[in-house]
Amino acid sequence: MAIILAIESSCDETSAAICKDGKILSNIIATQSVHQKYGGVVPELASRAHQQNIIPVVQEAVAAAKIHKKEIDAVAFTRGPGLLGSLLVGTSFSKAFALANNIPLVEINHMQAHILAHFIDEPKPSFPFLCLTVSGGHTQIVLVRDFFGMEIVGETTDDAAGEAFDKTAKILGLPYPGGPLIDKYAREGNPHAFAFPEPQVPALNFSFSGLKTAILYFVRDRLKEDPEFLNNNMADICASVQYRIITILLNKLAKAAKQYHIKDIAIAGGVSANSGLRLMLQEAAVKYNWRVFIPAFQYCTDNAGMIAIAGYYKYLNKDFAGQDIAPLARMNF
Ligand code: KG4
Ligand code: ZN
Repeated sequence: MAIILAIESSCDETSAAICKDGKILSNIIATQSVHQKYGGVVPELASRAHQQNIIPVVQEAVAAAKIHKKEIDAVAFTRGPGLLGSLLVGTSFSKAFALANNIPLVEINHMQAHILAHFIDEPKPSFPFLCLTVSGGHTQIVLVRDFFGMEIVGETTDDAAGEAFDKTAKILGLPYPGGPLIDKYAREGNPHAFAFPEPQVPALNFSFSGLKTAILYFVRDRLKEDPEFLNNNMADICASVQYRIITILLNKLAKAAKQYHIKDIAIAGGVSANSGLRLMLQEAAVKYNWRVFIPAFQYCTDNAGMIAIAGYYKYLNKDFAGQDIAPLARMNF
């Protein structure tokens, strides 16, 4: 029997979770609202908010799981990639907790954890599968051969898909983070109202910076003709931009599935919360005869539940970190 405490502090969510034998008993997330008025995450404010939130969040996770902290067998934490000042808070807390309780430390790669979130609930994908990991900082197609045997077969050459959502929102005058708001407006709009270009990028890679520029010029030109253009067309613009972002993602995913002869297809990361992406992935599943795997909403955006499940599998392998471990802003698989 193993009880794992997991800590996630890579960006602007402070999160703690408790996992018992692979089952998530609690997953507490404190979202930092301080960044909203700046239109993006301010690293120094994020570290400070993590420092304020970390102990209450851990206490809440322990209480919600109805366990005693002395029962915890290991502590798993996000080592990277992410904001260094934010990662330092979770790493230092985890090292201190492990030292004080004389239990092992387990270091977790945040991007692997997004993928391993698929092993929290049923149905679970079978190896090998492909995972489209789409977040605020990353856009990757990952060939997942095993729990920790993962290979990036395609990735963005510039902006991430989440950034494309957030930067579009900024152009449209919507607050940060823009992804969920674009999703909301898009539900009321016509995805074919405006046509945005699909970039031609080699192999299984992506590019979103051209789309951002196209939207910027489109909005600028339309506003010259009609100052009320945004107010009167917000739903159609959001639906059209979202449609293009999703088709860019799904066209490459289909290419990867064909190339690797894989039918088990998963999505992960904050953008996998997007309702349009979830819907169009289901449609692709019918078209290509895929089995698709979409995580529950609470395990899409940054959360410690995914760190806990990844930590559980590493714990079973006795893959422990030493007390000299340090976080990494950039981290490969
Ligand atoms: O994985 P995540 O929580 O944090 C990172 O590791 O980056 O992803 C955050 C990203 C943000 O860009 C946010 O706008 C986007 O995920 N996002 C969404 C939705 N919910 C979150 N994008 C589109 N539609 C959504 N519903
Ligand atoms: Zn993330």
